Amino acid sequence: MLISRPRRNRKSAAIRDLVQETTLSVDDFIFPMFVLEGSGIKSEIKSMPNIYRFSIDILLEEIKEVSDLGIKSICLFPNYPEAKKDKFATESHNPETFYLKALSEIKEKFPHIALMTDVAMDPYSSDGHDGLVGNGADGLVDILNDETLDILGKMALAQASAGADIIGPSDMMDGRIGYIRKILDDEGFTNVSIMSYSVKYASAFYGPFRDALDSAPKFGDKKTYQMNPANVREALIEGQLDVAEGADFLMVKPAFSYLDVIKTMADNFDLPIAAYNVSGEYAMIKAAAQNGWLDGDKAMLEMLLSIKRAGAKIILSYFAKEFAILKNH
Ligand code: PBG
Repeated sequence: MLISRPRRNRKSAAIRDLVQETTLSVDDFIFPMFVLEGSGIKSEIKSMPNIYRFSIDILLEEIKEVSDLGIKSICLFPNYPEAKKDKFATESHNPETFYLKALSEIKEKFPHIALMTDVAMDPYSSDGHDGLVGNGADGLVDILNDETLDILGKMALAQASAGADIIGPSDMMDGRIGYIRKILDDEGFTNVSIMSYSVKYASAFYGPFRDALDSAPKFGDKKTYQMNPANVREALIEGQLDVAEGADFLMVKPAFSYLDVIKTMADNFDLPIAAYNVSGEYAMIKAAAQNGWLDGDKAMLEMLLSIKRAGAKIILSYFAKEFAILKNH
């Protein structure tokens, strides 16, 4: 005789809903969006179906639409032409640059939106690296850590001045959280938050994002600053440093191949854990769905749910708008 029959808790939708442990809400999402200079532009990113680079005028319309769907947080990335890039990412802290102006306009029109920015040199760097490239001998990519901090500090301060609510350092330089925290505090931006890309791997899943920004490294790779996908213990070191340096959120990136890392972070730290469901994860599901190989909506929901179940409270995802549309129906 069977005493325990786990299937009883799965016998109807009502009971399945009662015992469901993890749920997703629009509240959990940050929607990454792309802006470029100009007006009247909406250009689709080839490797990310349904995701666009918008000029600011159209972007504002799009933000209105996603805000009406219940999305309250966005993360904005700029797409700069090659002509605006240099070795020192100078454009990143030019007060007249379109990215900073876009931040101010968004904040002015949508004060209730939590506006997150990206701090790293790659969108503005002629080398396509997140840090300043030195003259390393023996052909290794030589990224100058402490010299980069100075540039990141200027970038973060410019973004905070433009109205950013959450600064997102994605560069993986050592010490950047404390460095940026101090600059923000010294300048009176004690209320501006920092979401650290604490645990960011050197991943192939960023490919479509680099298409979106034309930001792929011109030489070498990012393995001297982004983490080795084989490692999880380093995640704890990065997390401890970020906590000590004043981070408000700890992020793991990518998400889907790193659910164990998300869980490790959630088990070890009390700050809210975020996970970045990156461009390649989005592209995989979209491509398979377009081929009729997967049910795109169901695969999306399962992927997002698994990230939440692993321990992420916050999910940065290109699926945020589609998820919100599904929830609204
Ligand atoms: C750049 C940055 C990257 C992403 C966010 N910020 C790419 C990279 O490190 O090369 C990737 C996001 C995605 O793939 O969706 N510092």
